Amino acid sequence: MTLGFLGSGAITEAIVTGLSTPGGPCHPIRLSPRNAAVAAGLAARFENVSVCPTNQAVVDVCDTIVLAVRPQVTPKVLSELHFAPTHTVISLVAGFSAVRIAGLVAPASAISRAIPLPSVAQRRSPIAVYPPKSAAAGLFAPLGQVFGIETEAHLNALSTATSTMAAYFGFMGHIASWVAGKGIPEPQARQYIALLFSGLASTGLEESGQSPADLAVAHSTPGGLNEQLLRHLTEHGVFDTLNDALEAVHRRASGMQPLPATSAKSE
Ligand SMILES: NC(=O)c1ccc[n+]([C@@H]2O[C@H](COP(=O)([O-])OP(=O)(O)OC[C@H]3O[C@@H](n4cnc5c(N)ncnc54)[C@H](OP(=O)(O)O)[C@@H]3O)[C@@H](O)[C@H]2O)c1
Repeated sequence: MTLGFLGSGAITEAIVTGLSTPGGPCHPIRLSPRNAAVAAGLAARFENVSVCPTNQAVVDVCDTIVLAVRPQVTPKVLSELHFAPTHTVISLVAGFSAVRIAGLVAPASAISRAIPLPSVAQRRSPIAVYPPKSAAAGLFAPLGQVFGIETEAHLNALSTATSTMAAYFGFMGHIASWVAGKGIPEPQARQYIALLFSGLASTGLEESGQSPADLAVAHSTPGGLNEQLLRHLTEHGVFDTLNDALEAVHRRASGMQPLPATSAKSE
């Protein structure tokens, strides 16, 4: 397999790193020229990676193409390219159904979708793929735990769940800053909070047979500080707001709502 990437941004950098560092499958990989700095950096780091002069050159020399451009530019980027019936296409583009992608890459018809996360670089990402036994499942198997998803509606729900990553760091950062505001050096506060959450994440994984609600009870002394904070957040509508936000993101992740033009990068 010769693997091509259209779009050399953050997620391409993470995937190529996971595939190409020692122990990975080290496929021959061809990158599109944008972003030039990311593409050049990956080609300099890994012998199996090189940069093509144009997007079409990537398509011409690769049998498997990963679509990793932003949703806002995807129709224009693909409208300028010529695919062959033999191409396999794996789309990472949020909010674009497999049928919509098929219409943009015809006559290629082997289309699958995947949601890799930045931790593919360390090969410890959950990766949702649709359909379950597709090229996407094979490509991402070495990069973490593949979840084969039966319907695009379910894939879109998981895509929505991945929108919580930045908020997670926002939550951590807010707590660390609050602690630092009480006089503790910020680096020490950050490390303390990072370890606190790392331990909770491990518990969540090790105790995945228990519901989060049960784990919350297990981490709350009756009448104690944890119980107080959870009750305060609940009573003040924090989780209702989270639910509203998830619903709003879900409308975009499902392609039901157009993406804001302001977040599109110029080409
Ligand atoms: N980041 C994630 O965790 C993640 C996870 C799952 C799926 N995705 C999906 O993956 C896609 C890429 O996300 P990202 O976070 O990697 O975005 P990103 O960092 O903005 O990367 C997108 C890349 O596309 C390049 N590009 C723009 N116009 C192009 C063109 N005409 N031809 C070729 N490349 C072009 C951009 O280059 P310039 O910088 O020069 O503009 C940029 O390097 C999105 O559709 C996103 O929904 C991302």
